[in-house]
Amino acid sequence: MYAKFSSIGAYVPKRLVTNFDLEKIVDTSDEWITQRTGIKTRYFADEEVTSDLAYEAGKIAIERSGLKNSDIDMIILATISPDYFAMPSTACVVADRLGIVAPAFDISAACTGFIYALAQAKAFIESGMNKNILIIGAETLSKIIDFKDRTTCVIFGDGAGASVISATNNKEEAILDIDINSDGKYQDYLITPGRGVKYGVETENIYLQMKGNETFKVAVRTLSKSVKDILERNNMSSDNIEWFIPHQANYRIIDAVGRAIKMPSEKSVLTVDKYGNTSSASIPMAINEMYESGKLKKGDMMLLDAFGGGFTWGSALVPFGL
Ligand code: ACO
Repeated sequence: MYAKFSSIGAYVPKRLVTNFDLEKIVDTSDEWITQRTGIKTRYFADEEVTSDLAYEAGKIAIERSGLKNSDIDMIILATISPDYFAMPSTACVVADRLGIVAPAFDISAACTGFIYALAQAKAFIESGMNKNILIIGAETLSKIIDFKDRTTCVIFGDGAGASVISATNNKEEAILDIDINSDGKYQDYLITPGRGVKYGVETENIYLQMKGNETFKVAVRTLSKSVKDILERNNMSSDNIEWFIPHQANYRIIDAVGRAIKMPSEKSVLTVDKYGNTSSASIPMAINEMYESGKLKKGDMMLLDAFGGGFTWGSALVPFGL
């Protein structure tokens, strides 16, 4: 049995926030944000929380797959901004709204969450345990960032993306390979110290903190190696890839990794300008954008990569199956 990437959906909250809006609340400029990150706008959720965004994205992905909600036999949701600290999982909340009674759980792998979820779905399906798994990356990062900290608040955005991973006997349409990894020695580089049992809920410390420059350097080095390795072990090069769809953290990281594998810039998908860094949601949101624009076609080989807190990272070779 093989696993195929059979659908896509995404959802973005309504409130558009420009760099000029942020200039009014923190000491920053449109010029700095654009030059260092490529970000121009992002969307923030007001009343909505992570499960609301996840539900909307998941609903679209299931509808487009042609399945009924009751055909979904597992939900895996990646997030670093869950509705609740410990329980219930955001996946269970979403399952309830979708009317699905099936195993549902969250995973915590920061910006690499979608690729981790994809790897798990692939493994469950290949084992024969499941037939149709809904995977979701969903974040309301605006609720865990400090709007007094200009080094983080200009970077992140809210959104959700979802996919259905289904069983198939056809090897041609199967997810080809996934590489996931982590190195906890960098755990302090991206951290929300005051939201767990170690430090308790300390009001001064509850927000996401990032050593951006150090993270940048490790991200470029590690991702370049991960994408080179996955291409090499599958005897592939950028010629065999229709679309390079990386996690949208910073256009400079995407550009550097693209150059490391000689990826023509017209094959690199960039949505960070519009949505900012939406962590686990950024890859499925970018895939959805490509699908809705009509550029991404069934059978197109996608190269995905992501890097995030932990540090975690991963890459994947995935034929688009919708
Ligand atoms: N506006 C204006 N100036 C700023 C801002 C801002 N918003 N933020 C920082 N600065 C200043 C700094 O204070 C510093 O000033 P100084 O030189 O006087 O000390 C200067 O700009 C340069 O700061 P750096 O941090 O060195 O800037 P850098 O070029 O590294 O860009 C950035 C920062 C955009 C955060 C970059 O490092 C980056 O993208 N890092 C990687 C982020 C990432 O990939 N994270 C992983 C995924 S996220 C996840 O897992 C949740």
